[in-house]
Amino acid sequence: MNMINKITHLGLFVFSVMLVASCEDMRENRHENVSHSDDTAQRAHGHGDASGENAKSVVCIMQALNRSTHEITDGIILNDFAKIEASSYAIAHHDPIAKDDLDALFEALGPRKDAFITCDKKVHDAAVLLNDVAKTKKMEEVVDTYADMIEAVASCHRDFKPTTGQS
Ligand code: HEM
Repeated sequence: MNMINKITHLGLFVFSVMLVASCEDMRENRHENVSHSDDTAQRAHGHGDASGENAKSVVCIMQALNRSTHEITDGIILNDFAKIEASSYAIAHHDPIAKDDLDALFEALGPRKDAFITCDKKVHDAAVLLNDVAKTKKMEEVVDTYADMIEAVASCHRDFKPTTGQS
C-alpha cells in the first residue's frame, strides 16, 4: 500500500469513528432529557423501551438500518443467507427511538401519526418475514421479500421524510 492509500484509509477510519461517536453523543444528550415515567412513545412505536439505555435519535437509527440494508444486499449478491438472516433481524429489532425524538416526530406529523406508524409496521413486518425466509435459503423469495421491504421504506420516506426530516 503506498503512502496516499494509507493516508486515505486512515482518514476514512477516523471519519467512521467520528460518525459513530457523534451518534453516541446525540444518544447521551437525548438520554439526559428522557422521562422514565411516560412510555407513550414506546407503546406507539412498538420497538422496545423508548426511555431505556438503548434509545437513540431517529437519524442514528436510520443510519443503522441503512447499514443493515447494505448488508442484506451483500448477502444476496454473495449468496450468504446467514448475513441476510442477521441483518434482517437487526432491522426488525432495531433500537428504540428516544422519547424526545419520537415526540418531536409525532408533533411534526400531527394527524398523520397513525399513517406513519402503519408504514413503520409494514417495514417491520417485511423485515420479520425476510428473516424467516432467509432461514429457508430460497433466494428468489428472499429477493421478493427484500423488494417489498425496500418499496415500503421508499413509501415511508416519500410520505414522511419531507415533513419531519432534518436532512
Ligand atoms: C430498512 C429501513 C430503513 C432505512 C434503510 C432507512 C434509511 C434512512 C436514512 C439513511 C435516512 C437519513 C438519515 C440521515 O439523515 O443521516 C432516513 C431518514 C428518515 N427516515 Fe428512514 N429508513 C428506513 C425505514 C424508515 C421507516 C419505516 C420510516 C417511517 C415509517 C422512515 C422514516 C424516515 C424519516 C422520517 C427520516 C428523516 C429523519 C430526520 O432527519 O429526522 N424510515 N432513513
